[in-house]
Amino acid sequence: MEFSIKNTSFIAKQKSECLVISIDSSNKQSDLVKDLDQSIQAMISQLINNGEVTGKLGETTFIYPFANDLTQKLLLVGCGKATEFDVTKSKKVINAVVKELLAKKVKNITWDLLTFNPAQSCEIAKRIPQIVGEMTYQFDQFKSKKSPIPSLTKVTLLYTDNKLTETLTHNLLQGQIIANAIKSTKTLANMPSNVCNAQYLAQQGKQLAKNHSSLKVTCLGEKELAELNMNAYLAVGRGSVNESIMTVIEYNGAQDKKAQPFVLVGKGLTFDSGGISIKPSASMDEMKYDMCGAATVYGVMQAVAELELPINVVGVMAGCENMPDGNAYRPGDILTTMSGTTVEIINTDAEGRLVLCDALTYIARYNPKVVIDIATLTGACIVALGHHYTGVMGNNEKLITQLVSSSNKTDDKAWALPIDDDFQQQIKSTCADIMNSSGRDGGTITAACFLSRFTKEYQWAHLDIAGTAWKSGANKGATGRPVAMLIQYLLDQNQS
Ligand code: BES
Ligand code: MN
Ligand code: ZN
Repeated sequence: MEFSIKNTSFIAKQKSECLVISIDSSNKQSDLVKDLDQSIQAMISQLINNGEVTGKLGETTFIYPFANDLTQKLLLVGCGKATEFDVTKSKKVINAVVKELLAKKVKNITWDLLTFNPAQSCEIAKRIPQIVGEMTYQFDQFKSKKSPIPSLTKVTLLYTDNKLTETLTHNLLQGQIIANAIKSTKTLANMPSNVCNAQYLAQQGKQLAKNHSSLKVTCLGEKELAELNMNAYLAVGRGSVNESIMTVIEYNGAQDKKAQPFVLVGKGLTFDSGGISIKPSASMDEMKYDMCGAATVYGVMQAVAELELPINVVGVMAGCENMPDGNAYRPGDILTTMSGTTVEIINTDAEGRLVLCDALTYIARYNPKVVIDIATLTGACIVALGHHYTGVMGNNEKLITQLVSSSNKTDDKAWALPIDDDFQQQIKSTCADIMNSSGRDGGTITAACFLSRFTKEYQWAHLDIAGTAWKSGANKGATGRPVAMLIQYLLDQNQS
């Protein structure tokens, strides 16, 4: 898909296949629309006057004027009151338009979406590629009959304010990079577990570094993990024939090459059967998505490289598979983690925290400025926040506030949950330092409490994406969340 912007004051002169015209419901049409209306014998105002076109948000009407030089079709789209137009409304409008264009197989459009609200235009320019990307995404590589390739390939957005050229161009490009990152995350996350194991994550990481010379990738296999005493991580993978591999992607964009990095750690359970504490069969297929944290790290690192951010970032994909087997770890086992803290295994299905705790200990060697882990960690998070909000916890209020604010800016919603000492009591063990599971109550928070025992040396936040990383049912598939929120967070850091 090709996106571009164009400075013009004559919409009728555009030569694309279809002109998309934004209609104001308070009937104060822009000069562009008025001009166009004149050149087609007032067809638009007639439709408005007889009530057929109202400008209601998302209302669409095709017209085929074939008047004068105008050979294009027109798609009128209601935008509500122009003065109240904002990013949320733009999402509805873009959705409605793209749906119509795809149905009519239109290839090439010109749209005046950026003309009537200069203040918001930049935000909208950044959003458009993401919304269009979302609407046209397909994962059909395993289908014999491929879905038709979306017809729409060229989108030209018009603007009239000369002063905006630079920011609009910049935002549109940023939006495309973010859209591509989300797409990469989705496609990696959608891969089935018989293809996507820890080895596959490692290969994808290496391929990413081949395509982006600013990225460096290192893989630690079971031998290396054993030398580092990452026994909790290794225990989880012991029942699987697929090797546990931790893939580390490094990006050094800061002027000061030694500047403290932002570290992202993604849970990469390429399949979570529950292990010996096996899960029920219903929906177990969805546990192929238990590597969505790692897929998020992959997408964010791709964007970091393409945005050429002036910061240092380390991304970890903690690849592993949790399977029952004669060699699998068991309930009752006591493991000594890399940090020395001992863990009594109560439930082998609480495996994510075991993989993460060693990865979080490992990355301390980077002297991180901030550490954020991303994990499909607890079913309890779905009970607490549904499929709408990512859960945010951590040991630093400012970091949590910043993440929630990035989530609000990008509409990739997140909500903070408390982790205080009252919850910490729940993970006490009678025979080891802590237990890996402590029942249902406050399950998302006690999982974060577990992780907090391994993150004392740095500022840390934990994102529980169990409810937000994928959709079930008819639209089953990865969502690419919380890639947008994390990129926004990193973009904001680079400004401060
Ligand atoms: N990957 C799951 C969490 C999960 C379950 C995410 C369902 C999304 C949908 C995680 O490894 C897990 O099994 N957690 C257990 C923890 C419990 C045993 C303490 C859970 O949530 O039931
Ligand atoms: Mn599990
Ligand atoms: Zn899991």
